[in-house]
Amino acid sequence: MTHRAAIVGAGHTRFGVLDAGPRALIRSAVAGAFASVDRGLTPGDVGEAYLATLGFGGHQIGNSSAVLAEEAGRVGIPVTRVENACASGGFAVRSALGAIASGSGPLVLVVGVEKMTDVTNARRRYWLGVSGDTEWERLAGLTFAGVYGLIASRYFAEHGDASDALVEIACKNHENGALNPNAHFQKKVSPADVRGAPRVARPLGLYDCCPVSDGAAALLIAPAEMAHRYTDTPVYVDGTGAGTDYLAVQERRELTRFRATHQAAHDAFRSAGWNRSEVSFLEVHDCFTIAELLALEDLGFAGPGEAPALTLSGATRRDGRLPVNPDGGLKAKGHPIGATGVSQAYEIFVQLRGQAGARQVPHAEHALAHNVGGAGATAAVSLFSVG
Ligand code: COA
Repeated sequence: MTHRAAIVGAGHTRFGVLDAGPRALIRSAVAGAFASVDRGLTPGDVGEAYLATLGFGGHQIGNSSAVLAEEAGRVGIPVTRVENACASGGFAVRSALGAIASGSGPLVLVVGVEKMTDVTNARRRYWLGVSGDTEWERLAGLTFAGVYGLIASRYFAEHGDASDALVEIACKNHENGALNPNAHFQKKVSPADVRGAPRVARPLGLYDCCPVSDGAAALLIAPAEMAHRYTDTPVYVDGTGAGTDYLAVQERRELTRFRATHQAAHDAFRSAGWNRSEVSFLEVHDCFTIAELLALEDLGFAGPGEAPALTLSGATRRDGRLPVNPDGGLKAKGHPIGATGVSQAYEIFVQLRGQAGARQVPHAEHALAHNVGGAGATAAVSLFSVG
């Protein structure tokens, strides 16, 4: 990248069913990010901000950027809301990099937030559906679990039954989540629990699905050359890429490959000048367990149909050669829509600084964040390193 940037501070609320509303969640994540900066932070340093949120449930349907300016104590600065469904956070990080490159700052604040659990089940279904195709999917009764169920069935038809790998992903991510104090679910599950759980959309069961969660995360990003003003241990953003695909899955050439992810990864690796072999661990968008398999293939870490074997080899466990979702992923950490992409960067920030406690990945130096909107219609990938 021509203008390199670095994360110098990050904050995160607990994810889960919380009492706090969106304003309080934003306030808490921002306070955490400010408090995490080691030194040199002055009140006027944040020159621009981005707010990633779907606006689930319709709270503050529009113009929520002003809420962030107020809660950050920076009324007056430009703030932009980014809404790309579940990929809003990943795209907000990209937007912040653009702002840094065009001279905003010295700090750019990125916040992702969603409040999802204060609505009735019927309204929840409605708001989960708004990020899918309206005419052919949502109004026909197809939920996101339904779309991913179709994708899983198609994957099984093309590559053979991958149920064992899906079970392994659910167990692995719950085991990682059990070590993450911010995770929605902090409990292990057994293969028998996963296999015996109620089916949501065949072949996917309860433990194949991410939950519906509240939460927020925040990042403070500086130009690389100024990062040491704030900390001795910045985390650099070395590359970023993004892509799109047809909104309705029926329009796509293939169901088992997300072109948007493929494009985003290609551009991110090209802009960073990295090889995939350099990557220490991945934060991928496992909204449903099948999505983790697709991510491994679309990001280029496994060939078509090879992700189940990679998963079952133990390589993607925390102590494996390519740990995936050490924070528990969307599956166990939770998926407050707008917060997820920012939360992935938060996890990378603490891991690359060696501050992840019990879930620390050994020798973590290079990491990838992969954030998908809806059933693959938008995707953002960013690459981070210790320098
Ligand atoms: N994984 C594990 N446990 C879950 C869970 C999940 N995804 N979702 C709910 N639970 C647990 C709850 O904690 C609760 O446990 P308890 O009885 O011990 O308290 C129990 O299951 C029932 O919870 P409830 O909220 O009533 O479940 P539900 O049946 O209404 O919803 C899903 C379950 C899977 C349908 C819901 O979590 C869902 O829609 N997930 C997908 C969200 C989504 O589509 N996001 C966008 C992705 S693109």
